[in-house]
Amino acid sequence: MGKLPLFPEQASTFAPEVDHLLYYLLAVAVFFTLLIFGAIFYFAVRYRRRSEQELPHVAHTGMVLEIVWSVIPFGLTMVMFTWGASIYMKESRPPADALQINVVGKQWMWKLQHMEGQREINELHIPLGRAVKLTMTSEDVIHSFFVPAFRTKQDVVPGKYSTEWFMPTKVGKYHLFCAEYCGTKHSGMIGWIYVMEPQDYAAWLNGGAAGGSLADNGAKLFQDLACTNCHKADGSGRCPTLVGLFGKKVQLADGRFVTADEAYIRESILQPSAKVVAGYQPVMPTFQGLVTEEGVLSLIEYVKSLGPKPAAAVPEKR
Ligand code: CUA
Repeated sequence: MGKLPLFPEQASTFAPEVDHLLYYLLAVAVFFTLLIFGAIFYFAVRYRRRSEQELPHVAHTGMVLEIVWSVIPFGLTMVMFTWGASIYMKESRPPADALQINVVGKQWMWKLQHMEGQREINELHIPLGRAVKLTMTSEDVIHSFFVPAFRTKQDVVPGKYSTEWFMPTKVGKYHLFCAEYCGTKHSGMIGWIYVMEPQDYAAWLNGGAAGGSLADNGAKLFQDLACTNCHKADGSGRCPTLVGLFGKKVQLADGRFVTADEAYIRESILQPSAKVVAGYQPVMPTFQGLVTEEGVLSLIEYVKSLGPKPAAAVPEKR
């Protein structure tokens, strides 16, 4: 018979703190359960009705007793409150020097990206002893990023960023779960966190450049979304060519000129009708909800890669 694992491994700085609080909650619950059930049995026997004629005598409650049974539970629950709140505050305030990781949840996978460009799906590699901060959003419904060994869990909500952080204290491989019911394959929305020695992590970062650059990913996304059907490279499509667009002045249908910068491209993807290019019809559908913020960023990188080179971009006017 193996050991019955009552608790997941303790693999973050939060883990012992959360467990100690849980031990306290359990101890209070067990103590009062025993006290109350013990008292019920004792009183049931001690004060049972002994004959048909017996009448109960009126008992008056004591002020001291009432104060005692109010103040003691109040004190115990205030300990729960302040202890729990302090851990909560700690878990909700990531340190400034934390390693940044972007997380996008979608039905039914976790997409994670390191600032160095490495992308991972349902896996996250992190170094030992370094605080890690996750900036998380969802492409569809509410998910929840839960790592039991780290004793941390945070909802991942569409349309906003939520954060979660932890400091791993043990090299190893730890379960990652989605902890919010999100549809048919919710139970399959799982993965692994790999905590590595710092030098192994550095080697992993350098070695695993398989994901390609952001621009490459953007190019692929551009194909996948069938943008190429309209935005033809030679300008023969129904929509303007994107070659050489970035940084240029663009004339709009209403006569205005705008600079094709990041914000313009982002808006053109998510709200194409906001700024229609002169000479073109507003035929482009919105990609709001179809492209992630992550996807939008890689599309922008792709458009940049089509030139002109950043150095040749129109100087900013102030
Ligand atoms: Cu995602 Cu449950």
